[in-house]
Amino acid sequence: MIFEQIATGGCQSYLIGCTETHAAALIDPEVSQLDQYLALAARDGLHIRYLIDTHTHADHFSGTHTLAKRLHAPVVMHRNSPMPFVDMRLGDGEMLMLGRMRIEALHTPGHTRDSMCLRLEDRVFTGDTLLIGGTGRTDLPSGDPLALHDSLFNHLLKLDPALKIFPAHDYKGRKSSTIADELSSNPRLQYTDPAAFAELMNTLNLSMPTHITEALRVNMSGGKSVSQMLDEAAASVPFMSLAALKARVEQADTSLIVLDVRERDAYEAGHIPGARLLPRGQLELRVNQELPDPTRRILACCEIGKVSTLATATLREMGFAGAVALDGGMKAWREAGYPLKTGSEP
Ligand SMILES: [Fe+2]
Repeated sequence: MIFEQIATGGCQSYLIGCTETHAAALIDPEVSQLDQYLALAARDGLHIRYLIDTHTHADHFSGTHTLAKRLHAPVVMHRNSPMPFVDMRLGDGEMLMLGRMRIEALHTPGHTRDSMCLRLEDRVFTGDTLLIGGTGRTDLPSGDPLALHDSLFNHLLKLDPALKIFPAHDYKGRKSSTIADELSSNPRLQYTDPAAFAELMNTLNLSMPTHITEALRVNMSGGKSVSQMLDEAAASVPFMSLAALKARVEQADTSLIVLDVRERDAYEAGHIPGARLLPRGQLELRVNQELPDPTRRILACCEIGKVSTLATATLREMGFAGAVALDGGMKAWREAGYPLKTGSEP
């Protein structure tokens, strides 16, 4: 077996491949690591055949949908997954052929209704059903502590105790454990009585994961996160540094149009000398009047550099091939003590 474990903060993803055929599967990919997964697959000579989410994630942005489009490989989830874009839905006991290997799905609801564990040779990918020294929480949408108890004690923990477990999360840098070790030392698994286990799970009082609303929106719709949209825009435009722009302003360089895409009140409170005002919200509708020459070099700036990156990507999409974004924004410009002008430009 070819095996790579990739951590993104506390989130764990796994790339597994067949040594003989080099067919591979990617389990629980995180969207910010797509280049890394593809680079590892290329380094190991693997062809990614399946993109698997062990469950609907509420705390990270799944990369399965984006990768599926890029690799023309199916998104695989449990039958109960609410995602409309799942290509292959597995039921309990069903298997995927991965070259000479077989991945078996075990339906283990509890953390979510669609949670599954994936058994492959000497190991089980346990998703958020069983963590090292813990279990997944049951207080997020579709969570159910009694279902988790049943999944653990009547299914997962009945497997061979020697099996290694690889969870979807670990926040302490641990790589793996075994079913035997968890049975003996995992504090939550000492609550063998269903009611006592449910009482424990219902009184954990965990804080909500950051970005839960956005993560569920993105993961359940196949849409994009805000940071993904910013990353894509940033990858499609060139940038100019604050210092390079300051030098041009000091030389009164008129070959560059500085376009301030903030709202009027922010612009009038202090802008780069010579900058024109064209708020981001009006960009497409006013661009023909304001920027009649698409060959001009245009630099977009905003308060912190995000809106201007999106505006620059829009301008380039509209044919302004000379549009660049400021690497930074007016906040950094002010903090650097660079020149400012108040009010409106003539
Ligand atoms: Fe989860």
